[in-house]
Amino acid sequence: MKKKILIFGGSGLVGSTFIDYGKDTFDISYTYNTNDLKIDYVKSFKINFLSDGKKISNIIKEYNPDVIIHMVAFPSVDFCEENHQLATELHVNATKKIVEQASINKSKLIFLSTDAVFGGKLNKKYTEDDLTNPVNYYGVTKLNAEKIVLENPTNIVVRTSVIYGWHDKSRFTNWILDSLKQNKIVDPFIDQFNCPTLVDDLAKSLIKMIDLDISGLFHASGKTCINRYDFAVKLSKKFEYDENLIIPVTSKEKKQEAPRPNSTCLDSSKLEETIDFEFSTLDEGISFILDKSRGF
Ligand SMILES: NC(=O)c1ccc[n+]([C@@H]2O[C@H](COP(=O)([O-])OP(=O)(O)OC[C@H]3O[C@@H](n4cnc5c(N)ncnc54)[C@H](OP(=O)(O)O)[C@@H]3O)[C@@H](O)[C@H]2O)c1
Repeated sequence: MKKKILIFGGSGLVGSTFIDYGKDTFDISYTYNTNDLKIDYVKSFKINFLSDGKKISNIIKEYNPDVIIHMVAFPSVDFCEENHQLATELHVNATKKIVEQASINKSKLIFLSTDAVFGGKLNKKYTEDDLTNPVNYYGVTKLNAEKIVLENPTNIVVRTSVIYGWHDKSRFTNWILDSLKQNKIVDPFIDQFNCPTLVDDLAKSLIKMIDLDISGLFHASGKTCINRYDFAVKLSKKFEYDENLIIPVTSKEKKQEAPRPNSTCLDSSKLEETIDFEFSTLDEGISFILDKSRGF
């Protein structure tokens, strides 16, 4: 019998990609807030966690999944810095409701977290054993949610970073590629480093995590530790756009509402070994999205 998977936030970048890869293997249902994907034979529930939080437990009770993947979050780190209460409600309080009902139903919970739980001053890739020290409120709320999820040792926390793909919700790559295509200047940061993660890799790795029934805390990100300016230059070269339109800026020069850590690159080798999987380098990932853009 197919495993039943419920995705909270299935209409987002990771959720919709997971559904693409997993819909034949699993019996999937998902929630959306504003954007129903309307996929044949995949059931969806509309829910806004901020106004209908009470429905969370009913959805879990009604569907009774083997596995829940929780991907609901505010996409903007700056919005969270200015709206602490909403960020706490969406990231922490809603997660608590999911954890409680998931435990009652004996559903395994997979929670998507972030490299923003780290302070960014380590000068090497962070492992799961390194100390957390978020510098912005988005990171604080995601870390608090992680702790609630991991109170149940069968659950999984997956920390990932700068997710990209050939997808209308791939924010960074779409900003760069759309602008360069129109000969517009872009100004990505040269002093903020992460490991960009190909969304297709993340979806495939989630499927393996479910198949192998693993538990605990894992990092799941691409192999290449890079700043946003160099990421943009790689994109421009591969897509054959004018690299001179990319102007590097520093965090001091371009103001952002929330402070950003300098370098939160993640070491994903624990997960790679546990599930026998390899995340792409950035060059491999960009080649992959170029092929997809050409319909391959
Ligand atoms: N994207 C990244 O670079 C990145 C990096 C690190 C960690 N993560 C984490 O990975 C997870 C998935 O990210 P993603 O990029 O796939 O996110 P996304 O594309 O922004 O999707 C977020 C999902 O949450 C839903 N949602 C938003 N506000 C909601 C609300 N008030 N009530 C109920 N649902 C709501 C959205 O629904 P609608 O679209 O239907 O409105 C969507 O399904 C998140 O937990 C995020 O924190 C992402």
